[in-house]
Amino acid sequence: MAVPADNPMADDKVRLGMQLYFEPRLSADSTISCATCHIPEAGWANHNPTDTGIGGQVGGRNSGSIIDAAYMKYQFWDGRAGSLEEQALGPIHNPIEMGETLENVVRKLQAIPGYAAQFERVFGGPVTTDGIAKAIAAFERTIVSGPSPYDRFAAGEPDAISPAAQRGLTIFNGKGHCTPCHSGPTFSDQSFHNLGVGMDAAEPNLGREVVTKLRRDRGRYKTPGLRNVAETHPYLHDGTARTLMDVVELYDRGGVPNGNLDPLVVPLGLTRREKLDLVAFLEALTGPVPVVRVPALPPDPAPTPAGPAPVAPGADAGIDPPAPIGDLR
Ligand code: HEC
Ligand code: HEC
Repeated sequence: MAVPADNPMADDKVRLGMQLYFEPRLSADSTISCATCHIPEAGWANHNPTDTGIGGQVGGRNSGSIIDAAYMKYQFWDGRAGSLEEQALGPIHNPIEMGETLENVVRKLQAIPGYAAQFERVFGGPVTTDGIAKAIAAFERTIVSGPSPYDRFAAGEPDAISPAAQRGLTIFNGKGHCTPCHSGPTFSDQSFHNLGVGMDAAEPNLGREVVTKLRRDRGRYKTPGLRNVAETHPYLHDGTARTLMDVVELYDRGGVPNGNLDPLVVPLGLTRREKLDLVAFLEALTGPVPVVRVPALPPDPAPTPAGPAPVAPGADAGIDPPAPIGDLR
């Protein structure tokens, strides 16, 4: 995994990032954390077609999963962020996600002794937006998918996946034309393509074109990785495919016709059984992901000097098994 030179991995940084990931005080009204939308038990995504952020506001995109996001060259469906560090602050000050200003977040965290102490320890100074982004990104780099049944099959274990999934693999590599785009360890070419999803709307989203201003990027979206994809329904950038079969049906039809349809997306003429086989293969890409429990979060500052002494954070670090927190106590 590529880790930025200015944000090396460290245990105490990851533990801080995990708390921030589950921290609703990053949002304007302390109701929404990253984990509200990227739920560990829901494939680190969620099962709504699009998301509801602060004050019940609904966005237009399906939440991507955090799983293996660290292996992706681009973040977001249109690739508008390049790194996890760059991505992490976006939702905090997105008016329809967490709706908080970065200035306020820094002030709020600095006032919480448990956070001030951890930033001092991890970054050698007070709370900064840069530190918040780095800690969250470091935590996200630990959320990776382990060996799936498919990987065990590829490593020579012939019974690791069902005969249906084995036939699906052959279709994925051949008749299905999937591999030009879903290639490599993540099953993504780390690029952008137009399948026509949403392009039949009266005023379609322009996708990658909004970022690059290039006409050829119209309606193009990032090729998502496919590891643990069975856990992250619904699918596609607008959440319009409810199941993996819905996605396979879309490819079988040759996508949605539009002026910029990718030439690799053509009608496939798959039989019902071939479609089921493809789905069985996609399901075999589900590997184990670290089990994370909601960590104890540092308490708010005591209201008066005479009030109860704040309890040190990290009594439960939230990782399974819990790790000792050391000198934070
Ligand atoms: C209100 C729901 C919501 C909240 C809160 C939220 N996200 Fe997201 N997240 C989304 C949606 C929706 C997308 C896809 C947006 C897009 O691509 O335009 C996304 C995309 C991402 C991605 C990119 C995934 C990919 O496949 O490209 C990462 C990483 C991510 N979020 C991390 C975070 C972190 C870290 C936080 C907390 C600081 C957070 N999110 C808070 C809904 C949310
Ligand atoms: C031309 C490149 C290309 C080809 C060929 C292609 N894909 Fe995709 N795939 C994409 C892109 C881009 C998206 C996201 C499109 C969107 O949301 O608008 C996607 C989305 C998906 C998703 C949804 C994942 C999610 O998290 O929402 C699945 C599943 C999938 N593809 C499987 C396949 C299979 C199976 C095949 C072969 C039958 C295939 N793809 C062929 C580029 C491609």
